[in-house]
Amino acid sequence: MFWTKDILAIVLLHLSAGAHLVAAQSQTFRWSMKSANEVSNPGYTLTQCNSATIVVNDTQISNNPLSVPPYYMMSYEIGGTTSVSQIGSNASNLSWTVNHAAGSNLVLQVIDSAGNSGGTASGTFDVVEGSFGNACLPTPNTDFLSISTNTTTLTTCEPLILDIYGGGPPYTVSIIPLNYTTVFNATLSADENQYLWVNRAEPGGSLIAVVSDSYRQYAKATQLIQLQGGTNFTCDNLQSQGSQQTVARAETHLTAFNKLWIADGVFVIAIIAYIGYIIVRG
Ligand SMILES: *[C@@H]1O[C@H](CO)[C@@H](O)[C@H](O)[C@H]1NC(C)=O
Ligand SMILES: *[C@@H]1O[C@H](CO)[C@@H](O)[C@H](O)[C@H]1NC(C)=O
Ligand SMILES: *[C@@H]1O[C@H](CO)[C@@H](O)[C@H](O)[C@H]1NC(C)=O
Ligand SMILES: *[C@@H]1O[C@H](CO)[C@@H](O)[C@H](O)[C@H]1NC(C)=O
Ligand SMILES: *[C@@H]1O[C@H](CO)[C@@H](O)[C@H](O)[C@H]1NC(C)=O
Ligand SMILES: *[C@@H]1O[C@H](CO)[C@@H](O)[C@H](O)[C@H]1NC(C)=O
Ligand SMILES: *[C@@H]1O[C@H](CO)[C@@H](O)[C@H](O)[C@H]1NC(C)=O
Repeated sequence: MFWTKDILAIVLLHLSAGAHLVAAQSQTFRWSMKSANEVSNPGYTLTQCNSATIVVNDTQISNNPLSVPPYYMMSYEIGGTTSVSQIGSNASNLSWTVNHAAGSNLVLQVIDSAGNSGGTASGTFDVVEGSFGNACLPTPNTDFLSISTNTTTLTTCEPLILDIYGGGPPYTVSIIPLNYTTVFNATLSADENQYLWVNRAEPGGSLIAVVSDSYRQYAKATQLIQLQGGTNFTCDNLQSQGSQQTVARAETHLTAFNKLWIADGVFVIAIIAYIGYIIVRG
């Protein structure tokens, strides 16, 4: 029957949207900070709205392609905002305006215009008050997108569960370890609002997680999560994956109730209506 085949096709299309992509950015260059504030906390203190000089070492790393200017600073405030800023094209004289408020603590990563990573800095950076005003600070994002996890330590192979609320799916989750050449990215499918990441990062360090949505807005990053455990990363072949939060869990966050639950409900009702129509029609 014509109608049944149509419905089957729609159902299959809907189900197959569950696939997603996991990518790790490989390091193609190294970068370092030539901070002005190297007295109190050498290299790790930055001044609000001051400019910091960044240098990219463009020596080729193994067989990876050379970096492609211009460069971007991805600055992730622990428990706060993420910002992406163009910092110039001259690898030996890049300039980043510290667009985070005094009191914040940052994880920094430089990327090139092809999306290649220069890796994350080995430590976090404290932003202090200075005489450069606050005009550089972004206006706070009012659109609601958030990420939540209840973990502050993570053992090797233990899954990190990230619940995502609000914003516009599909979501992209990034797991960002400090002092690392790679960042782990996963783009979820449109109906997924939870990500389970199996921890295969080197123990002894720490990481944060952020999420961005289809409008390129970022949720506040998680707190710093400490990594512990061994170095056997087999993890019984457990794979990281996106999924849907259970309805019970989603209901505890009704303010951010994901529109997709409603969309899915409407979809199911539509199928039932179609089937009813076919039966009545004979
Ligand atoms: C990872 O995600 C970030 C944020 O969405 C993006 O800027 C970056 O280009 C992505 N990298 C890869 C390799 O997909
Ligand atoms: C750039 O990296 C190469 C390879 O690691 C190293 O030999 C060289 O000293 C570095 N140059 C600078 C200016 O840091
Ligand atoms: C790049 O920066 C270096 C060091 O600041 C400077 O000597 C050089 O002239 C600059 N190159 C260009 C093309 O501006
Ligand atoms: C380095 O870049 C800054 C900011 O773009 C610029 O003001 C300065 O003149 C540059 N220095 C050199 C030596 O090129
Ligand atoms: C960063 O990692 C390198 C090796 O990958 C290690 O030698 C160095 O001690 C680490 N730095 C910090 C601050 O953990
Ligand atoms: C985190 O949440 C999970 C599931 O809700 C729960 O089983 C676990 O005890 C929680 N952990 C902490 C540290 O609160
Ligand atoms: C690593 O762990 C797996 C189980 O996940 C185990 O089968 C394997 O023997 C371990 N390898 C080593 C070298 O300990």
